[in-house]
Amino acid sequence: MPSPMDPGRDRDFIRVRPSGIHGTGVFAKRPIPRGTRIIEYAGRRLIKVELLEAAARGERELTYVLNLDEDLAIDGAEQGNDARFVNHSCEPNCEIYIFDGTPYLYAMQEIAAGVELTFDYKLQSAGALRISRALSRELFPCHCGAPMCRGTLVALPKRRARTGRATPAQLSPPQD
Ligand SMILES: C[S@@+](CC[C@H](N)C(=O)[O-])C[C@H]1O[C@@H](n2cnc3c(N)ncnc32)[C@H](O)[C@@H]1O
Ligand SMILES: [Zn+2]
Repeated sequence: MPSPMDPGRDRDFIRVRPSGIHGTGVFAKRPIPRGTRIIEYAGRRLIKVELLEAAARGERELTYVLNLDEDLAIDGAEQGNDARFVNHSCEPNCEIYIFDGTPYLYAMQEIAAGVELTFDYKLQSAGALRISRALSRELFPCHCGAPMCRGTLVALPKRRARTGRATPAQLSPPQD
């Protein structure tokens, strides 16, 4: 949701420090207005297939990799900046937007000083490989602490409505 008042440059809004979600995180050092472009997600551009092959061979970590499009990704581990430390939340306050092939972190809401910045990683399975909800939660657990945490960094498909008569029991929230 880039604002029409987009300053077109990254200002000094953030501080990197230990996070309660995971390892190192990124925090607002002063109030950040909704719609602010906070920082570019910098890093080396790589061809996704090559990246995944290198990861499968154990030659490369995917920790700081961000998808750009079908073919390209950015690896913040190389030539990256503080944006690589932004943790995931299932109820995020930021979002990544890509302009002319360059990804930026934007504030989706007013963010108070001291609050951790997060975006929804929406991890996807590679190629035809699909993993179950249970395995997603086991392999990529989420510790964001949000009330509606889905338990994983993976983007889970929406549950399909069950067929049959709607009874009160079926109208209650889905259970695992
Ligand atoms: C881009 S890094 C984020 C920075 C990371 N905290 C660090 O110290 O390097 C992504 C990694 O952080 C961890 N992470 C981020 N958000 C998380 C969350 N909500 N729950 C659990 N781990 C998370 C995962 O290990 C993920 O692979
Ligand atoms: Zn979560």
